[in-house]
Amino acid sequence: MRVSTNREVRSYPFTEYQRLELDPVYDYIRENEPLCRVRLPYGGEAWLVTRHDDVRTVLVDSRFSRAAGVGRDEPRVTPHVQPRGMLDMDPPDLTRLRKLVAGTFTARRVERLRTRAVTVTTDLIDRMVEHESADLVGDLAVPLPITMICELLGVPVADRPDFTGWAQTFLTGADTEPLLAYMAGLVGQRRERPTDDLLGALVEARDGYGKLTEHELLFLAAGLLAAGFETTANQIGNSVYAMLTHLGGLVPPKLVPSAVEELLRFLPLAATVGTPRWAVEDVTLSGGTVRAGEAVFADRSAANRDPRVFRHPHRLDVTRSPNPHVGLGHGIHYCLGAQLARLELQVALATLSERLPELRLGAAQESLTWRTGGALRGLVALPVAW
Ligand code: HEM
Repeated sequence: MRVSTNREVRSYPFTEYQRLELDPVYDYIRENEPLCRVRLPYGGEAWLVTRHDDVRTVLVDSRFSRAAGVGRDEPRVTPHVQPRGMLDMDPPDLTRLRKLVAGTFTARRVERLRTRAVTVTTDLIDRMVEHESADLVGDLAVPLPITMICELLGVPVADRPDFTGWAQTFLTGADTEPLLAYMAGLVGQRRERPTDDLLGALVEARDGYGKLTEHELLFLAAGLLAAGFETTANQIGNSVYAMLTHLGGLVPPKLVPSAVEELLRFLPLAATVGTPRWAVEDVTLSGGTVRAGEAVFADRSAANRDPRVFRHPHRLDVTRSPNPHVGLGHGIHYCLGAQLARLELQVALATLSERLPELRLGAAQESLTWRTGGALRGLVALPVAW
């Protein structure tokens, strides 16, 4: 039995998204249409789930598949069918590839990365304070994650003017070729001269041990580069903006770890609903049964505001604990860069708070320009003063 009172198919996106606001219609849908039928601009209809428990089920339950969507005209917001690399796979292929990268983030490696992130952040802030005001996006939020992921992978930071544009079209699926071709060039160099960065390790895993195909290697490396800076860069900028506008300033360094989690919960970073999962068997969720062969979108931003799980869900509470948000995903596709993302966010926000505790907006809130048309929400620039 479906509990949905509204049987009509809703057009998705419901409204054009505004800045970092979550459309209030989600509160209605979560309560009244937990299994909501939506029609997307391309690829037809799907289900949308918005409750925290349903979202987690769809993301973790092996009766839902990503691989089953490959080669289909998947419901989506953009015209292109987006090849997703790892996100198009199910276990055991997924597990095989994830293991190759997960090994990179050992506790010791991550601590070294933290030390390096502190140095990079301190240098960037040193440069910021030489002036009376700065652009937090261009001067810190973008260069920190780019530098970190480049050093980790072994991609020359100097190539940034080339690959930033390619990474964007890679992420939206509009054109994946330029970034893949760029990666193929770097992989070729490693074959001539091996290196001990992550890319070198992946080339060795391919050539020495046959643990992945050439196509998987290129997609994985390109995916790590693209996912490795766009997401964190926008999350840093959005986080600072949210603290300055909701809390009137930065939080003290000791509150930064819980603030980072709360900002991952509270800020809807994804512009739209993301990648559907396909039921391979009938599965019963809160609002009824999803039939085998149907597509379901698990809306993480809506789940992160579920009042069943989060008290005062629309309040930014940097002391919230526990905080079982799904901002970094859940289950088998849980963000592979989660440790790196967390450490960059923590280092950026703590160092800013130590160095510039009086940080404030350097321009009227209404005058700020937000990106449009991409996969992620974020500011084009964030003028700040101190
Ligand atoms: C604030 C920063 C970040 C956020 C909010 C974020 C969020 C996410 C989410 C929600 C997913 C799951 C997508 C899904 O299930 O449909 C994901 C997957 C992924 N993320 Fe992140 N991410 C961040 C940073 C990073 C970084 C720094 C890297 C790279 C080092 C990275 C690499 C990946 C990869 C490779 C996947 C796919 C994993 C798979 O399919 O199994 N992410 N991320």
